Amino acid sequence: MEKLKRETNILEERIQAIRPEIAKRALSVQDPSIDSIAPSVLPDIQTYFPHLFHSYTHPVLIEKKTTYKVAVVFSGGPASGGNNVIAALFDFLQEVSGDNGELIGFLGGPKGLLENKWIVLNKAEVDPIRNMGGFDLLVSGRTKIESESDLVKVLETIRYHNLDGLVIIGGDDSNTNAAYIAEKILREKIPCTVVGVPKTIDGDIQSEHIPISFGFDTATKVYSNLIGNVARDCLSTKKYCFFIRLMGRSASHITLECALQTRPNYVAISEEISKKQQTLQDVVAEITDIVLQRIQNNKPYGIFLIPEGLIESMSDVKLLIQEMNQLFSSHTLQLQKIKTARKRLVYILQHLSNQSHETLASFPPQIELQLVEERDPHGNVQVSKIETERLLASLVHDRIQKINPKALEKYVPQCSFYGYEGRSAYPTPFDATYCYNLGRVAGFLIIQHKQGQIACLQNLKKPVSEWIPTAVPLLNLMHFEMRSEVFRPVVRKTIVNLDSPLFQAFMQKREEWKMEDCYQFLPPTQFFGTMDSGLEPCLYISLHT
Ligand code: FBP
Repeated sequence: MEKLKRETNILEERIQAIRPEIAKRALSVQDPSIDSIAPSVLPDIQTYFPHLFHSYTHPVLIEKKTTYKVAVVFSGGPASGGNNVIAALFDFLQEVSGDNGELIGFLGGPKGLLENKWIVLNKAEVDPIRNMGGFDLLVSGRTKIESESDLVKVLETIRYHNLDGLVIIGGDDSNTNAAYIAEKILREKIPCTVVGVPKTIDGDIQSEHIPISFGFDTATKVYSNLIGNVARDCLSTKKYCFFIRLMGRSASHITLECALQTRPNYVAISEEISKKQQTLQDVVAEITDIVLQRIQNNKPYGIFLIPEGLIESMSDVKLLIQEMNQLFSSHTLQLQKIKTARKRLVYILQHLSNQSHETLASFPPQIELQLVEERDPHGNVQVSKIETERLLASLVHDRIQKINPKALEKYVPQCSFYGYEGRSAYPTPFDATYCYNLGRVAGFLIIQHKQGQIACLQNLKKPVSEWIPTAVPLLNLMHFEMRSEVFRPVVRKTIVNLDSPLFQAFMQKREEWKMEDCYQFLPPTQFFGTMDSGLEPCLYISLHT
């Protein structure tokens, strides 16, 4: 009870501590520049977003207002800290407009925006969620806002509420949506400013001005704590090989960060595997070598980290998935009529090339079925549903059986997936503070009519008092990608840079980690967590990309 009281007090103190930090500095938001749009794509981006592009170079005169109505929406997967974006927007509106200001939240993600489902966010709603994890107050979703009719519906909602600002808290796809909405708003001459906030545990929205997306710090600390616990179990029982898959759809930032925090025996980094064009069997061979050598050294245990995106990065499986995605979009009607995954599998096998047919047929039945699950609303494979860790554990078993069947007696794999555990946890002090500040910047961008920009904070390795609020035009983050058979501008995902100091640091250490037990153990993140308990270097690593 005493402890709970202490935690609650600390929580309150933290809320107090976070608040005053920003008020002074949000006012120094720098003017963004569009210089960083690559010249090769600039004309095409201009064609897609003529009004938004023009607004960056010809900002509108700011109409002096004192009363603002702002809406906020979560989009995509949860990420810790998001509630503090809402809390900051609420506080900001109070400061700017007093009780006349209004904050509303759309329910269920972008669907709420399309269907105009919303709630008013007053003190009674906002105070209980300060510094809390999860998006449970508003709920998030992955509905696409893509077609012209979707945009028309969004604009109807904006007009209905007479919004001055719309804050979209999301990842690459959601911020892409934000740019398309901003363009439509300008075309229709609606006085509402759309602002993005970089959210995703995957950490793949980064740029010169965006050091990291929020939620990454919390997720990697939660996973690193769990990995450390399992590593300790390894040392305590000396009998299991743990295959641990970590979230991170396209980029392996989470896996790399957790590897540096915990020092496992093997780490797959999708970007490297993709660059080296390694196949599934190459990866299996590498893991098998480590397992066999460890067994020989009397260490029949180990920690093997796998990013969920690995499945799409091995050259043979990548080809298979590409062919399958193609089938999903060109045979949509036929596939929609097939109700069971098993029958879908039969249909897909009939339409694959010989090579991909062979790859798919070599998988354990459970994984085959997972691969033919329906795609997400953006046409992507739902990698979080594919148990790559089981696939690898099983193929390593088969390979050991061929090479050294006796060793199988000592090969006991345990498979886990750490994903959802880290998305709605209590935010770390970093994510709590970062999000509160991002919310303040978003509020400021709205009153400054900074249309179609994403709220950012820089200088994050310095104390909070030295963080620099800024903003980047969403168009700066774009490149062209094939989406639903159309080549169009979208916010690009930032993948692990193999030349970065972070990856190089990992390269230098990984050989040693294979055979030695260099495991590191992180304590759980608590209300009074990492910063107070002297683990600031973790934060440093997170941001040192
Ligand atoms: P966002 O980019 O939307 O934040 O989501 C990232 C993520 O957590 C991925 O790591 C994971 O692949 C995916 O969401 C799973 O999402 P869900 O099961 O909720 O659809």
